[in-house]
Amino acid sequence: VTTASDTVLVGRGLLTGTGEALAGISRPGPILLVTDGNVAPLYLETVREDLVSAGFRPREAVLPPGEGTKTLDTVRGLYGELLAIGADRATPVLGLGGGVVTDLAGFAAATFLRGLRWAALPTTLLAQVDASVGGKTGVNLPEGKNLVGAFHQPDLVRIDPDTLRTLEPRQYRSGLAEAAKTAIALDAELLEALETHPERYRAPGDPEVLATLVGRCVAAKAAVVELDEREAGPRRVLNFGHTLGHAIEAAVGYDGVLHGEAVAVGMAAAIRLSVRQGLLPEQDGERLVGLLRALELPVEVTDLPVRPDGARVRKHLARDKKRRGGKQALVLLAAPGTARILEDQDADELL
Ligand SMILES: NC(=O)c1ccc[n+]([C@@H]2O[C@H](COP(=O)([O-])OP(=O)(O)OC[C@H]3O[C@@H](n4cnc5c(N)ncnc54)[C@H](O)[C@@H]3O)[C@@H](O)[C@H]2O)c1
Ligand SMILES: [Zn+2]
Repeated sequence: VTTASDTVLVGRGLLTGTGEALAGISRPGPILLVTDGNVAPLYLETVREDLVSAGFRPREAVLPPGEGTKTLDTVRGLYGELLAIGADRATPVLGLGGGVVTDLAGFAAATFLRGLRWAALPTTLLAQVDASVGGKTGVNLPEGKNLVGAFHQPDLVRIDPDTLRTLEPRQYRSGLAEAAKTAIALDAELLEALETHPERYRAPGDPEVLATLVGRCVAAKAAVVELDEREAGPRRVLNFGHTLGHAIEAAVGYDGVLHGEAVAVGMAAAIRLSVRQGLLPEQDGERLVGLLRALELPVEVTDLPVRPDGARVRKHLARDKKRRGGKQALVLLAAPGTARILEDQDADELL
């Protein structure tokens, strides 16, 4: 998949060949390889050997897994590693892991010496279908998620769906929620594939099915991002299910509910609201909520592992509205596979 400013490859076995591909964009020498403690025992050796055989000298930063690592302190540590290998503008950074790792690697690359080249090898379904496309990088502050960051397109993204086999089922399904979002909001053809054979997608099975799923999501996101890199207009359709999803995540303190789980409930709410507002025929609404269920995704707050407090969810929805100057756009559905952005809405309706 080629977009205006980055190149994303999706295919089995792409974890190998990274060294050679990187040599095509930067001269072999030192490289900072960022990963986490879960991914390292699974895939680091393959990537290391590959880099070394292409003439690179990888310096490895193996971070503690989890969202708690996505901080400025961690980035400071990565700057330290870059200094230790005498990095200059030509030194690339490579992120191998989930969205936490790729957001961190990308942000360190965006900011060190005002910008290094970087590449991503995303290994979770969420990172493959979402975080790896679009060039957003960043970290969390104690006050909130993703409050500090930069748009910095990677020079190379290599997505190997075979890495998804080692994911914990819950992590896989969290990513599947984002894939379902892409289908429901943007891609009627993918939606039909999911609806015809939901059992093929519930868990990582047939590698070709996975490669197609990831490839289509990447292509759909890339097409939207290309129109609107800085998220002022059409890119907002990617926020389908996210207004309520984010409020749920915040309400539980980002603990006990995964992003995709919250988004799945948010999508179900947005689908039902689309029906109530007369945008979407009731039958279509039922069909789509049925698909989420068939993919074993939560569609009610009671399906979530932790039940969010309603008053807190409302408070976080109101905060979002305030941040946007009182006006809130909601992403609703005009048809299965076609989202529509409606300005000046009341997000409380989602509740
Ligand atoms: N930049 C963007 O556009 C963008 C988009 C969406 C999400 N994000 C960010 O991504 C982050 C979430 O990403 P995530 O869900 O990938 O979380 P994550 O990086 O924490 O990965 C989830 C878990 O899976 C483990 N893991 C990763 N790959 C594995 C594999 N192949 N096998 C076994 N275990 C593996 C990780 O160690 C971790 O424990 C959030 O911080 C979010 O803000 C960014
Ligand atoms: Zn999301």
